[in-house]
Amino acid sequence: MYKLAAFDAYGTLFDVFSMGQLVERFYPVNGQTFALMWRDRQIEYTRLTTMSDPNPSGSKYYLPFLEITVRSLRYVCKRFNLDLTHEIESKLMQHYEKLVSFEDSLMVLKTLTKKGMSTAILSNGSREMLATVVESNGLKPYLNKVVTVEEVRLFKTAPQTYQLLLKEFPYQKNEVLFISSNAWDALAAKWFGFDVFWVNRLGHPFEEIGDKPTYEGKSLTEVLSVI
Ligand code: LAC
Repeated sequence: MYKLAAFDAYGTLFDVFSMGQLVERFYPVNGQTFALMWRDRQIEYTRLTTMSDPNPSGSKYYLPFLEITVRSLRYVCKRFNLDLTHEIESKLMQHYEKLVSFEDSLMVLKTLTKKGMSTAILSNGSREMLATVVESNGLKPYLNKVVTVEEVRLFKTAPQTYQLLLKEFPYQKNEVLFISSNAWDALAAKWFGFDVFWVNRLGHPFEEIGDKPTYEGKSLTEVLSVI
């Protein structure tokens, strides 16, 4: 029934929270708390820039996701009173650009490709940073397209971003399964009209607003059971 499996990138295919371990090598902080604050601030900035000018031709406040990621890192370091030297900043960002994928990401994409499904990423990420992380994890041969919001200069959850998938592939909304570990992303994609699979690795509650996801599972592997 589905023709396209479209994946969110950060947190879904690639482990953003692993950044916490690296942070602990440089600073005497709880890496997990740091990584969570960094992630929250990053998403906060994507929303702020998008909502403050939700222009169909792009927000005038738009900044590439890589830039948003650095700025949110700087913010969190200031909040924790940590001296972010150029050297530490570039080490952390180099790691971010080559984040490791979850252990089942490659296998799931390979299996879907074998089954004849189209596969894609739809991400807030900048084109170059996505190209690097996809390549460094060997996922490129198993992705038909890597779609970035860069083209619309609005971030998820603006509907124009989910619409990009329908622009890139000749499918109807109900032929797309959107997969994300971010509950907010899964919710917004469902609002947009896609069926969604929420990858709930940590056993968190789903959002208290909107519709429940079409499917929920503890790992990407479980996606294969609904295709
Ligand atoms: C992505 C982030 C938001 O779009 O997870 O890849």
